[in-house]
Amino acid sequence: MAVAQQVIIVTGAGGGMGKAIIENQLVQGNIVIALDLTVASLADLAQDSLQTYEVNILQEESIQEIFHEVYTKYGRIDGLVNALGIAQAATPIEEVTMADWNRLMDVNVKSLFISTKAIVPYMKERKKGSIITIASVSAVRPRPGLQAYIASKGAAESFSRGLAIELATHQIRVNTIHPGPADTQMLSQFTADGADAEQTKHNVFIQSVPLGRLVDPTDIAGAVNYLLSDAASIVTGTTLHVDGGRGL
Ligand SMILES: NC(=O)c1ccc[n+]([C@@H]2O[C@H](COP(=O)([O-])OP(=O)(O)OC[C@H]3O[C@@H](n4cnc5c(N)ncnc54)[C@H](O)[C@@H]3O)[C@@H](O)[C@H]2O)c1
Repeated sequence: MAVAQQVIIVTGAGGGMGKAIIENQLVQGNIVIALDLTVASLADLAQDSLQTYEVNILQEESIQEIFHEVYTKYGRIDGLVNALGIAQAATPIEEVTMADWNRLMDVNVKSLFISTKAIVPYMKERKKGSIITIASVSAVRPRPGLQAYIASKGAAESFSRGLAIELATHQIRVNTIHPGPADTQMLSQFTADGADAEQTKHNVFIQSVPLGRLVDPTDIAGAVNYLLSDAASIVTGTTLHVDGGRGL
């Protein structure tokens, strides 16, 4: 029996992980709705099952309008993958400004409140849904100088767990993925001011992964696909480490 086509929304769609998640979901035969500040990187994936929106996730009204448009068009929204985020360059706390702190909390945490709040009514209506947030292993295995980023990722995981218990009776599953250091453009942005990003990548990040390599965006896409699928129909409120053992 053919599996019904699902409708999956991905935020941070134009980023390294976002794009890999979308490619994977298109191969599964699903319809993907891609949201990012810019979606230029997705140009080579153009096809009927991919719909893109250039939007700031912090614009709550725009997000509500987009989700309404999607639900009206397809009559279903099966999955939300929160893959957006911004990094923090390693900085001693005395040098972190309130503006830095607020920006990290807005993009990495407030955005989750906005996208999740907007999607839940549609999932409740169909008594089915899977919400996945990409947090970070740094929430439980911190590095110096990343205090605001780490706090934002801890909040992301707690938010998911809180929603998992709240939404379970509606058959909406909510899970978190903790990637280890991953091979995307974001990685170099964690480098302290004045340090060499390429050297840090090899001497700090790769060295810190017991399995000996960076996480590939396709590793995350595979984990997302599992959590979206019926193979994970009894999995909620969990955090899946895709980190090469970095969290150990
Ligand atoms: N790369 C790593 O080493 C690493 C490790 C652990 C966790 N993560 C997390 O994984 C997720 C994906 O990261 P990535 O490596 O693909 O980074 P990336 O920088 O390639 O992608 C992030 C995307 O989020 C988008 N974005 C940022 N603010 C936005 C906003 N307000 N509205 C809409 N889109 C916005 C950016 O435009 C970008 O395309 C992030 O949450 C990140 O914190 C990354």
